[in-house]
Order: sequence, then structure tokens, then C-alpha cells
Amino acid sequence: MSANILAHTRADERQSHADATDVILTGDRPTGSLHLGHYAGSLRSRLALQGRCAQTLLIADLQALTDSSGRAAHVARQVPEVVLDYLAVGIDPSQTTIAVQSRLSALAELTVLYLNLVTVARLERNPTVKAEVELRGFERDIPAGFLCYPVSQAADITGFRATLVPVGDDQLPMIEQTNEIVRRVNRLAEASVLPECRALLSSTPRLPGVDGRKASKSVGNAIPLSATNDEIHRLVQAMYTDPGHVRASDPGRVEGNVVFAYLDAFDPDPTTVQELKERYRGGGLGDMVLKRRLEGILDAFIAPIRTRRAELARDRAYVMDVLRAGSERANATTEAVLRDVRAAFALDV
Ligand code: TRP
Repeated sequence: MSANILAHTRADERQSHADATDVILTGDRPTGSLHLGHYAGSLRSRLALQGRCAQTLLIADLQALTDSSGRAAHVARQVPEVVLDYLAVGIDPSQTTIAVQSRLSALAELTVLYLNLVTVARLERNPTVKAEVELRGFERDIPAGFLCYPVSQAADITGFRATLVPVGDDQLPMIEQTNEIVRRVNRLAEASVLPECRALLSSTPRLPGVDGRKASKSVGNAIPLSATNDEIHRLVQAMYTDPGHVRASDPGRVEGNVVFAYLDAFDPDPTTVQELKERYRGGGLGDMVLKRRLEGILDAFIAPIRTRRAELARDRAYVMDVLRAGSERANATTEAVLRDVRAAFALDV
């Protein structure tokens, strides 16, 4: 990894790093409902930035199709579900634009233009793409759209002239590729048509799934933002702790312990969490005590989100309206950027 992709800021430092002139853009693939990992990794930063900076959340349905073309109907159904998740956690559509990627045709045209600035070898070297190709078992049968999705993501980001992108650290290679494209466009135009962007990383490390592996909607090891009390109970009980910590009196490991990862991300009292870690390490603190504490915290955190989500879900027309209005606004922005990029390619009429 080169140094420039590490030019990120942490969410807890954002007061000094995100200034009022920053333009924020992030996206989510609509493949299922959002979970606590999304909250700790990105939604929390988006809420903190809301009202302070111009911000757009893009529901990346076209990107979802790059590895799920066989599940197109499922992806389409998930679009309003993601909107419900956003609204339920407190995203306010009067302050944050919520738009659907497939409704912004300028992004598709930007992608086609940018594809001329990127080599296949560079795409194959993208560490995120590489890892995902392996995870999905594509081997040599990589859908071309999938290999090229970093270019489409560069279109998403630059289409809004975004300067700050709140994402998980797995997305850093995407930011790097975007900035390479930005520099090439600016060189073509011999002008500063597009700004470079930087990542805003969360202050909490990536939240694992309850089994300690990567959290994933499809694996069922993530805790959905709309989980019921029963689901929360079942998932917290199933959390991986320290297999060597058999009796409460045994010393236990905090690192890799999923319960502590969630306490770090959601316990409103970090001082107590530090004390609990010390007691756990020294022996004398049982898993059940910790799990009960976490369950209480997650119940209290999720209950208002679940209630608000259920209320909003009854008003489908409102959700569709949010999407329509947001996409219209975003369309105007991305069309204006496209005009400038077309000009860089001598395509202006
Ligand atoms: N690739 C991102 C993910 O899988 C989603 C995404 C699409 C995105 N377009 C984006 C993130 C633009 C940031 C900016 O989570």
C-alpha cells in the first residue's frame, strides 16, 4: 500500500478534519438490511457529519448487481429497505441526500469514460477486488462488471465532487484508485476539474460477526439494526469469546473476544469497559456477566431504531418520495460534473 491511501482521518478526529467545505459521499450495496457493523463503521460518522457538511448517501444497486446479477429482484427489493435503515437511525433527508445509483445515468457515462484511464492489470491488483474474487470463488470467471466496479465507484465519488468518504478500511484501495483517476482526468483537462478525496475511517475497528469471522448478512452472523429482542439474545449468547476461558476464575483473552469488540463499539461507559477488561484478563469475570451487560446495551440501542423503522415501513409512499426527491437532486449534481468531464475528453458540443 502506498502512503497516500493512508491519508485518512479517524472519526473521532473529525472535528479537526472534516470542515464545512467538505463534500461527503458514501454508498451501500442494497443486498440486505444494514447491521451493527454498518452503524459502528460508517452510519455513526454520517450522523455526526449530517448538517455540518453537504452529504449524499448512495444506494449502490448497480454495484450490487456486479456480483449478484442472478438476484436482481432481491437487490431491487432491498433499496427501500436500506432507506428505512437510514431513516430509522436518524438520517434526515432534509439534510442528507439519499439517492439511487441506477437513477443517475451520468454515473454510468462517467464510468465508461474513466474505463479508458485504467488498465485491466491495475484492476486485478486492487486488493479489495482480489479478496472479493477469492471470497466469491470466481476464479477465472470474473464478471467484467465486477472487475471494473472500482471504476464505477470512482464515478460515484467524483460525480459529487466528494472530498471525504466515510468507509471501512477495506475500501481504502477504492479511494486510492479514485484519486488516480482524478489525477488523470485533471491532466487530460489541464485543469483541476475534479478534487481528490480522502477516507474518513471509523474510530472503532471493523466489528466482527458473532462467530468472530467477517460480519455478513448472508452468513447470519451479523446483528441487524432491526433485530428483535429474541434475535439480540440469541446472537449475543452465540458470541465467540475465549475458548480457553472455561471457568469464570480462569484468566481470559480480550483480544479477538467478540463481546469486548461490541462493548468497545456500543458501551456508553468506556471506563467501565476498561475495568471489565482488566478483571477478565486477571480471571474472575464470567462470560455470562459480560453477555448480559452487552445484551442490555444492545436492547436499549436497537429498540428505538426498530420502533421508528416499523412506523416508517407503514408509510411506503413517504419512503419512495425520499428516494425520488433525493435522486432528482443528485441527478442535477452528477449531470453538471459529467459535462465537465466530457469536456476533458473533448466531447463537449
Ligand atoms: N463499495 C462499497 C461497499 O461495498 C459501497 C459503495 C458504492 C461506496 N459506491 C460507493 C462506498 C461510493 C463509498 C463511496 O461498502
